[in-house]
Amino acid sequence: MTEVESGSGAGMDSLRSGKRDDDRRRLDWTPGFDQVRVEEVINRYRGERWVLIPLLQEIQEVCGYIPPALIPRIAEAVGMFPVQVQGVISFYSQLHTEPRGKKVVTVCRGTACHVRGGRSILKVVKEHLGIEEGETTPDLEYTLETVACIGVCALAPNMMVGRTTYGSLNPSKVARILGRPRAAQGGD
Ligand code: FES
Repeated sequence: MTEVESGSGAGMDSLRSGKRDDDRRRLDWTPGFDQVRVEEVINRYRGERWVLIPLLQEIQEVCGYIPPALIPRIAEAVGMFPVQVQGVISFYSQLHTEPRGKKVVTVCRGTACHVRGGRSILKVVKEHLGIEEGETTPDLEYTLETVACIGVCALAPNMMVGRTTYGSLNPSKVARILGRPRAAQGGD
């Protein structure tokens, strides 16, 4: 029993070391984020229990999203399997494994907004940004999302850009707010 455990331990050490090398290579291949800060964040949480969510949130703050290539490193740091980390990311809607825009435009699809032209507002926003819901502009400036209610129905139709809410919208107001030419043309 002891021999088996001892042999398995050495094998596991070698496997873990090989896995870390693999993860390191994956990390090195992933461009576009501050690798020094990423390493600092992962190492700060390393070996701690119950830290996965704050660790993921911090990685997302640094990178703008959670690069899939980092998931094995994160899993190794907190003693989980990558599939478990992926499961947690999938469960929380505020965690993303795709690049996000610097500003998130959230158009309300709720009833109050819908009856006061919310659908047209969404269409105009799409035309201005040149993307569909759930997508991010190629320059990583904007991500477009919709929501069931922003909570200011009296001002319908509404949308948010980042944390700022804009109400009583019409197409020209949307153009002023987004401040960029339409990416695609189309009528209401
Ligand atoms: S339905 Fe749009 S803010 Fe409530």
